[in-house]
Amino acid sequence: MTETDAATSVRYRRFAEIEARGYSPTYDEWCIGISGDPELLALLDTLPPPRRQPNLFLGAARFVGAPLGGYASFRSFVLDRWPGIRDVMASRSTQTNEAGRCAVLLPSLAAISASEGRPLALIEVGASAGVCLYPDRYAYSYSPGPVLEPAGGSPVPPLACSASGDVPWPSRLPEVVSRSGVDLNPLDAANDDDTRWLEALVWPEHGFRAERLRAALGVVRAEPPLLVRGDLNEHVLPLIDRAPSDAVVVVFHSAVLAYLDPAGRERFRTTMLRLAEDRARPLHWLSHEGQGTLAGVAGAMEKAPGERDGRFVLQHNGRTVARTGPHGQSIEWL
Ligand SMILES: C[S@@+](CC[C@H](N)C(=O)[O-])C[C@H]1O[C@@H](n2cnc3c(N)ncnc32)[C@H](O)[C@@H]1O
Repeated sequence: MTETDAATSVRYRRFAEIEARGYSPTYDEWCIGISGDPELLALLDTLPPPRRQPNLFLGAARFVGAPLGGYASFRSFVLDRWPGIRDVMASRSTQTNEAGRCAVLLPSLAAISASEGRPLALIEVGASAGVCLYPDRYAYSYSPGPVLEPAGGSPVPPLACSASGDVPWPSRLPEVVSRSGVDLNPLDAANDDDTRWLEALVWPEHGFRAERLRAALGVVRAEPPLLVRGDLNEHVLPLIDRAPSDAVVVVFHSAVLAYLDPAGRERFRTTMLRLAEDRARPLHWLSHEGQGTLAGVAGAMEKAPGERDGRFVLQHNGRTVARTGPHGQSIEWL
């Protein structure tokens, strides 16, 4: 095994043990298999290191049609269909779009709208297909906590979220008057290839997430947001300028900053703190990111000793307010 093979092997073993174990037995088994398979590791190592990412490979293989089953059938599918899988890995990136994250954003969004006495103009940076721009269209079931739903119900199954701490529960969903976002590669909820790609990124055993994704994409299709293509640092100010002046702007992001280099993260953070402090127009910044992502960025939280995960940090105007499940499945108010 060459040195790069060894690095890829370690990467897949870690992914199996730290990320997939307990959440996806299929991906756990496949990644353990890959980590000890010189032939597959050699194929992966024909790609540049960032494109050897487990989630990208697993999603690409399923996008091309890999059957769910044991490692032997996965392996023979990959050997048979490698050129097609490789093309997907070279042209697509991981853009998982998770409506469930609205459950951990909602208490802050509702509190912002209530305290400013205005409806919301939402701007999501790193929006993917934009399913997180519709927090007012989803139903929520917090436990313990309230059940909330839009007047007339929601076509999306309720977003279940376990709660702890003193969460500032909203009494109703906030009003949203505009939805816009930016992404390096905005996905189109009306495009079959894009929606199939998003489904391939949902882990095999998470059928409820696939169902939720399909329904949420229907919400996006019914009333598409303004999504611009490009880098968030270049586009956030023009998007703020376009927002209706009688609304309170909330710029938010979820699972995005990991894709930026430290300079890009720091530039964005400085911009957002400056805007949030400027009282000329009401603007708030909600950041929902992995704890590791924030390391090195001032205001980051340390991982608790022995913490394995996994968990995300929710910050409001740079101040940490909660720890959350990465897909919005839990919120611990601090
Ligand atoms: C993991 S997805 C998360 C999507 C969505 N925020 C959610 O929580 O469901 C990360 C998204 O960030 C986008 N992205 C990464 N770097 C970016 C950048 N510099 N500017 C704009 N978008 C970026 C990716 O294209 C991708 O769609």
